[in-house]
Amino acid sequence: MGIAYLNGEFLPVEQARISPLDRGFLFADGIYEVIPAYAGVLFRLEEHLERLERSLAEIQLHNPHSRAEWASMMQSLIEQNGGGNISVYLQVTRGAASKRDHAFPNPPVAPTVFAMTSPIAAPAADSPDTTEGVSALTMDDIRWSRCDIKSIALLPNALMRQYAVQQGCAEAILIRDGFATEGSASNYFIVKDGVVITPPKSHLILPGITRDLVVELCHANHVPFEEREVTEAELKNADEIWLSSSTKEVVPVVTLNGNPIGNGKPGETWKKVARLYVDYKRKLCGVA
Ligand code: PDD
Repeated sequence: MGIAYLNGEFLPVEQARISPLDRGFLFADGIYEVIPAYAGVLFRLEEHLERLERSLAEIQLHNPHSRAEWASMMQSLIEQNGGGNISVYLQVTRGAASKRDHAFPNPPVAPTVFAMTSPIAAPAADSPDTTEGVSALTMDDIRWSRCDIKSIALLPNALMRQYAVQQGCAEAILIRDGFATEGSASNYFIVKDGVVITPPKSHLILPGITRDLVVELCHANHVPFEEREVTEAELKNADEIWLSSSTKEVVPVVTLNGNPIGNGKPGETWKKVARLYVDYKRKLCGVA
């Protein structure tokens, strides 16, 4: 099961205990991050910590640690869990008040800080010539209008992902008012006539760290790129669709709603960007 971190202490995860009065449990009043590490080195850590700070500020929760403290806690957690390719799940809630009340405890109580690790499965981008890609389907985006906050309130996301899985798909791509927003736990890109396209950041999507890296890699390597809204029809008629997230990196979608995307195989633009991604990862983390 591994070693977890809870409120200043490292302990076997099955021994970690929180109060039933914790506002994370009662109200999903908290935020989280998922940060990959390769060869034990945290990937794009500053960007993840910046998003953590932003999520905390947006829900008016005081950040209990400095960046250096977060970094050293996570580095220690990774080491205690054997290093390698591993992701850190980090959650901060508004803590346990003495009674259930929607309004925040006044005076504030100590936040609950929890972290654990999980192994990262070999990502598709590591083997661009042999990967088969995944299936996805479209669904109405049933979430709230502050999807930019990395909130632990993930019931809509869980319901949509579960529906996708029950249909034999890896992901649901969400449609709001005729436009594709993001996946249930990923951002997406399309490729049309050689141009990579992804929607701009807004309150309706999570500002993905992987998304930003893919955008950076396109710019740095002169891959034609546009940031703009994508209609449901454009998504369905795309030459390529990719999903991006910290734990899966960049994954090609080869069927949408049972129909092939492009020729039903991972596209050439995806292969190019996957190689750029792996090169970047190798340089940053020294992974083989
Ligand atoms: N999810 N959009 C949503 C709704 C997400 O939940 C995620 C990530 C992303 C991609 O963000 P990033 O590239 O920073 O991982 C986009 C994580 C991995 C999760 O919930 O496990």
